[in-house]
Amino acid sequence: MQLAIHLDSTSTVPLHRQLYEQLRQRILSGQLLPGQRLPSTRILAELLAISRTTASLGYEHLLSEGYLQAHRGSGTCVCTQLPEQLLQAASPIVSVPSIGGSPRLSRYGAGLSEARMLLGKVSPPPSINFRYGPPAFDALPLQQWRRLLTRHCRCSPGVLDYATDPLGYHPLRESIARYLTRSRAVRCTADQMLIVSGSQQALDLTTRLLVDPSDVVALEDPGYLGARHAFLAQGAILLGLPVDSEGMVMEQLTGQPPGTVKLVYVTPSHQFPTGSVLSLPRRLELLAWAKASNALVVEDDYDSEYRYGGRPIPALQGLDRGDSVIYVGTFSKVLFPSLRLGYLVVPLELMPVFARARWLTDRHSPLLEQYVLRDFIEEGFLERHIRRMRRLYAERRQVLVETLHAHLGNRASVLGEEAGMHVLVRFQTHLSDEALVARAAEAGVGLTSAAANYLHSDVQGEFILGYADLTPERLVEGVVRIARILDAKE
Ligand SMILES: Cc1ncc(COP(=O)(O)O)c(C=O)c1O
Repeated sequence: MQLAIHLDSTSTVPLHRQLYEQLRQRILSGQLLPGQRLPSTRILAELLAISRTTASLGYEHLLSEGYLQAHRGSGTCVCTQLPEQLLQAASPIVSVPSIGGSPRLSRYGAGLSEARMLLGKVSPPPSINFRYGPPAFDALPLQQWRRLLTRHCRCSPGVLDYATDPLGYHPLRESIARYLTRSRAVRCTADQMLIVSGSQQALDLTTRLLVDPSDVVALEDPGYLGARHAFLAQGAILLGLPVDSEGMVMEQLTGQPPGTVKLVYVTPSHQFPTGSVLSLPRRLELLAWAKASNALVVEDDYDSEYRYGGRPIPALQGLDRGDSVIYVGTFSKVLFPSLRLGYLVVPLELMPVFARARWLTDRHSPLLEQYVLRDFIEEGFLERHIRRMRRLYAERRQVLVETLHAHLGNRASVLGEEAGMHVLVRFQTHLSDEALVARAAEAGVGLTSAAANYLHSDVQGEFILGYADLTPERLVEGVVRIARILDAKE
């Protein structure tokens, strides 16, 4: 195949970026047609006299933005269903795709087109919803929370004014630092801690401050969509790293030439969504690689409080002897998501820039909730609640797993460790994920396919089942309804 690509090795634009731009232009202008097959990275590298890594990175970028698709065994092709906005922009001069009729979007705004799938659906929720994320709302210690809210509404001067510190209420930062030190073996003080609006803001700030367009970000594949889309919106090139029973596989990362990968996103305590735990040798390998490559690792410790078998696993951050890890945590799981409070632990020298960015973004998190949370932690309610929820969720997980085995036998395999608030289930079925989700919805059951969590492969039959907010009766009923669908003949 003659691709007529000309790369300029004297340019300051990296070669993989030039490759990406030129292929993208050929797709937009119709020179490369939907479905058309592209040469393998090996052949492309030979044709253009570039390294295979450069060729792969160029393809990765186009794959992650939906211009290309890859199928096991049949190589890489131009996407057959190019996003609508790209087709409208089928002129070689257009450099920013338009979305929803607005031609004036920034590169960042245009980069959000793929993230539309993150927005919740407005249709009424099914009666038994296995959606992942929510805690057991009816088990929250709301009485204590209400009492503390009243206390601070009445007696805390300044609680309604602007905060003077965008990093968060200092006594709360101290409480969280102590909590993380004793429960997660994180090495930190309040001076390295920033209170944020949940992990999502932590990921967004981190990305905007540390990733430039065309930087390479490595992440688990399958992985968390909230992180993937934050990186994509910033124009990052994604390098998906496969996951096995010991967590993220390191070969593709450590095999990259030094300096290629800027940042790695990882969920080591409970990989999302597969549930595996990053083994100690891989943790040490990741930290050694980060130090040698001057790269940063973002550790998302979103639900690590919940482990039901074996000993708790200390945070990766606590093993780091350098300044390579940015640690992200949230109160969405241990309390409730609408609280919108989370935290970031960052190397000290990055604190000033995080403070400035936070102030510019939304100044600071609401003070009232920060005061309440500080007392909630200091008066022992948080850890008591976590202990209670650990028992409750362990029981719910067990009911779900046993019922799946009882009703579906080996047609349902549950992946991952005994931890967290969801399981990944692989169903053996002839139904596509779409069809199973639709039939489940008709039966009043909410199911989430894990297909979107995979960067490149087209895995079918894997579903993320959240169980924390479902009583044992509803869990059993939900599984019975799923089994009925899978048992049906057509
Ligand atoms: C991997 C992961 N990180 C973080 C979160 C929580 O995000 P937030 O703190 O923004 O509510 C979730 C929610 O499901 C998650 O799955």
